[in-house]
Amino acid sequence: MTGNPRAVGIIGLGSCVPERVLTNADLERMVDTTDEWIRTRTGIRERRIAADHEATSDLAAAAAQRALADAGLAATDVDLILVATLTPDMAFPATANLVQHHIGARAVPGFDLSAGCSGFVYGLTVGAQLVGTGLYQRVLVIGADVLSRITDWTDRSTCVLFGDGAGAAVLGSVPAGSGFLAFALGGDGAGAELLNLPAGGSRRPATADTVGHHLHFIRMQGNEVFKFGVRAMVDATIEALGKCGLTPRDIDLLVPHQANIRIMDAAARRLEIPLDRVFANVDRFGNTSAASVPIAFDQARREGRVKEGAIIVFVGFGAGLTWGATVLRWSEAPWKDR
Ligand code: UT7
Repeated sequence: MTGNPRAVGIIGLGSCVPERVLTNADLERMVDTTDEWIRTRTGIRERRIAADHEATSDLAAAAAQRALADAGLAATDVDLILVATLTPDMAFPATANLVQHHIGARAVPGFDLSAGCSGFVYGLTVGAQLVGTGLYQRVLVIGADVLSRITDWTDRSTCVLFGDGAGAAVLGSVPAGSGFLAFALGGDGAGAELLNLPAGGSRRPATADTVGHHLHFIRMQGNEVFKFGVRAMVDATIEALGKCGLTPRDIDLLVPHQANIRIMDAAARRLEIPLDRVFANVDRFGNTSAASVPIAFDQARREGRVKEGAIIVFVGFGAGLTWGATVLRWSEAPWKDR
């Protein structure tokens, strides 16, 4: 371990979504809903749905390979793999172990992190500490979820919201002054009932009865989660910025969890950030849970929205309840100087 924490940032980015597109028009034929309701209440037009043969580790591995290629690294350069997900391939082993094998990494440690839709922000926070101390050189942080497998396709209040996907970031050393500047995480199990998957764990193991009562699907009190989400994103953003002496005015690009365009707009209004500094792609992908922030950031960068030296804030909220934000000063230098 080095005595002084090193500057740590993102040195590679990648994402992967399944090919199959499910439009609002498709959903109109499945449940009692309308394209107009979905668009005006959520901002979503379409989402991607995994093929029968695709599981979380497949999308995660594809995103990881793209992030490694972007960083100019091989899978064998990775020292640790962290997968934020609430839809692991199976209860155990960890999806991170499956990804390690799939991409051909060395026999490096890997673990899954369960923090709902805040998972990627939690993962960045954990991964950055492990690089910052010098314990590991390069950490792969992946947010991946296949929510379509735990969606009740007869429940119109939830099934219109979600999509599948994965996003990955390679964390490593970056020039002093750039990289992660601050982190702020929170969690409160008092809100566990607002958003959960009731059965299939040790409290209510799977039985014919739990299956019959649709207890292996997402249950959500949407209105309550909406209010919490706005509050949590605003508070986490301000807290993280405060830790590095910045204010919302300093944000060049806010990359929020893509749950609902109205939640993002409300948070931006309260933070007094113009909407052109908030990146949103919920219209194309819906809510992809732990994958939403890295998918959005990967797209933003490819579209040229991420400038050298820019202050970027990633912010999320989700089941737990959990929330979190990280502040990053962007530098493309590591790619060029490698
Ligand atoms: O990643 C974190 C997890 N999730 C979220 O962040 C989701 C947070 N919540 C939300 O995004 C919003 O609360 C929803 C989009 C889920 C719902 O929007 P809302 O504006 O809060 O609507 P609501 O639940 O208050 O429902 C309004 C009406 C209800 O009808 P009545 O009772 O007013 O007659 C619902 O039954 O809309 C009805 N409704 C629908 N109508 C057409 C609910 N879902 C649908 C639907 N199509 N799909």
